[in-house]
Amino acid sequence: MSNVVLESVSRNFGDFVAVSSLDLRVNEGEFVTLLGPSGCGKTTTLRMVAGLEQNTSGRISIGNEIVSDAARGIFVPSERRRLGMVFQSYAIWPHMTVFENVAYPLRVRRRPNAEIKEAVAKTLHLVEMEGFAQRPAPALSGGQQQRVAIARALVFEPKVLLLDEPLSNLDAKLRLQMGDEFRAIQKRLGMTTLYVTHDQSEAMSLSDRVVVMDRGRIQQIGAPEDIYRFPANRTVAAFFGTPNLLDAQVTACSRIDGQRVRLEVVGRGWSGPCEAANEVRLGQSVTVMVRPEDARIASIDMAADEQGLRWSGRVAHTTFRGATRSVVVETNTGQFNIDASACNKYVIGDDVSVFVPQQAAWAVPAPVANEAEGHVRRGRASAAMPAGAADARSRNTSS
Ligand SMILES: Nc1ncnc2c1ncn2[C@@H]1O[C@H](COP(=O)(O)OP(=O)(O)OP(=O)(O)O)[C@@H](O)[C@H]1O
Ligand SMILES: [Mg+2]
Repeated sequence: MSNVVLESVSRNFGDFVAVSSLDLRVNEGEFVTLLGPSGCGKTTTLRMVAGLEQNTSGRISIGNEIVSDAARGIFVPSERRRLGMVFQSYAIWPHMTVFENVAYPLRVRRRPNAEIKEAVAKTLHLVEMEGFAQRPAPALSGGQQQRVAIARALVFEPKVLLLDEPLSNLDAKLRLQMGDEFRAIQKRLGMTTLYVTHDQSEAMSLSDRVVVMDRGRIQQIGAPEDIYRFPANRTVAAFFGTPNLLDAQVTACSRIDGQRVRLEVVGRGWSGPCEAANEVRLGQSVTVMVRPEDARIASIDMAADEQGLRWSGRVAHTTFRGATRSVVVETNTGQFNIDASACNKYVIGDDVSVFVPQQAAWAVPAPVANEAEGHVRRGRASAAMPAGAADARSRNTSS
């Protein structure tokens, strides 16, 4: 067994709560990503699993072994946790060749030379660096150094891999390529992987599940598509891209299936249907999220028979982005961001209508007043949670 389990894990630095009561299970062979803004506690969480940082409360297990339990004073040091680690700064040794860098974890474990030679060759082949074994480490490009760091983490075939923003120093194209390659290796070897990034698209494309963190707390855990399309709260919704977030009040609510309810909502000068995860009381305030790519724009009233939300407005601004064209439409409820096909052209000042199908309008609890506040402080932890987030969290973490 090589799962990783965190139970009520917290880490305080003096009065400051960097990680607050985190519950997470990474299943065997699973790729789970911690995602969130700078300072939300991702690295601290990973370092606690690695044994580089001690949790102030809670318990961490790897496989069947408890590696840290604050209440019982158990703490297994990092070198005995059998983990592969890759950190943002590659931390490959400049005075060594590629071969010696990759061989290092095996030398520390006092493996025989013949075994080291074979394992290093095999691992360098895996990351397509076999031709570089004798190269001094500094004489490599960033992407190549990154592969050496990954090879060094893989060489002793760890059951669990921890990676902290391993691709962040690479250019966009290499980043995509290395991400895909790494995911293929991870799947082939079936390694349990805990990955840290603040890059949304990286998290989406690599992970089995994504853990969205904010201010030391888990906001939601789920498959990438669920997190993106069905965020549990406004914080998670707003973390991805530039969604339209519209204030509204609920006027009707009916269940569609076990997963979703249909709401009728009314906003400032607009009304119509949308969907949500849970039943909502009539009159309650919600935020309706519409992703820019889900809104349609046309010069005439559209799809009168289709269920959805409609606004009329005027084209205020357009930006050509290559694959898409961003259009800002000024409506009576404010500005609406739409990502349209780049083939379509829009003239500023033109009257248009905006349509959003019911399934693409997702309601979450309206934010509470102090949601925008700074970091969580001890003793006031719950105040920093947006309404409904606690429910969403317990629902999602238990899955
Ligand atoms: N040793 C420390 N002493 C005091 N505060 C710390 C210490 N280490 C981390 N912190 C604080 O804990 C919070 C979480 O830090 P952490 O490094 O885990 O964030 P992160 O999510 O990895 O951010 P980033 O995306 O910028 O790497 C930050 O506010 C940070 O300043
Ligand atoms: Mg970090």
